[in-house]
Amino acid sequence: MTRPEGNDPDFQGPHSRGLHFYGRRKGRKLRTTMQGLLDGRLPTLRYDPAAAPVVQFSHSPDDIFLEIGFGGGENLAAVAAARPDAGFIGAEPFINGVASLLRHIEDQALSNIRIWDDDVRLILAGMPEACLAGAYVLFPDPWPKRRHAARRILAPAVLDELARLIRPEGSLVLASDHPVAKSWLLQAACSHPDFRWTARRPADWRARPQALVPTRYMKKAERESRIPNWFLFERKRG
Ligand SMILES: C[S@@+](CC[C@H](N)C(=O)[O-])C[C@H]1O[C@@H](n2cnc3c(N)ncnc32)[C@H](O)[C@@H]1O
Repeated sequence: MTRPEGNDPDFQGPHSRGLHFYGRRKGRKLRTTMQGLLDGRLPTLRYDPAAAPVVQFSHSPDDIFLEIGFGGGENLAAVAAARPDAGFIGAEPFINGVASLLRHIEDQALSNIRIWDDDVRLILAGMPEACLAGAYVLFPDPWPKRRHAARRILAPAVLDELARLIRPEGSLVLASDHPVAKSWLLQAACSHPDFRWTARRPADWRARPQALVPTRYMKKAERESRIPNWFLFERKRG
């Protein structure tokens, strides 16, 4: 996959603060209805990095979950619909994906999702310790080449932040269909002292956790005969 780089505004966000995001921020021109959702709904649902996560939800949830790179938002909308008592923060710089999530939010009348429409790395450091019940990183960009390893989302600094933010016994759910990405995801999380891989048998990484729904990337992987796996980690105590 060839991606333009440098200072192209389609690839660098308004808050980038020197962090380079290597994915796409824009895709096809949005239909009027989708642009209307972005203009009308996003400002009211945007995650505020200056405020504590819990105060951003009207129901002060005990459990808050973060999905990093929610793509079209299929999973985020489904888990949020299944847990109206909880709060969900989704981070996704790809604006067409954000518009797609907003459509799910409208269609299902969801009120427990806040959206960070930029690079997740910009909000992690500002979040308080142990504020999350769990996090999802589903089908991250695989960056299989060794020379692109620094672009992988589960870099040590991000995993350290997730270890700080996920409370003891909270969950970190990872998924991939890409052989190289499966191995770097597993290696990163297994070698982190604060996370424990909960799998006991192959079925535990072969079967999609019941609460999650197939995402766009998962469906594409299955159409193209790639095998998705799910890796469930628990944040250790202490
Ligand atoms: C391969 S897609 C998977 C999307 C979705 N999880 C799914 O399963 O359909 C990876 C997503 O991660 C997003 N992403 C990459 N780097 C990110 C970052 N630093 N912060 C937030 N999202 C990121 C990309 O924009 C892209 O939408």
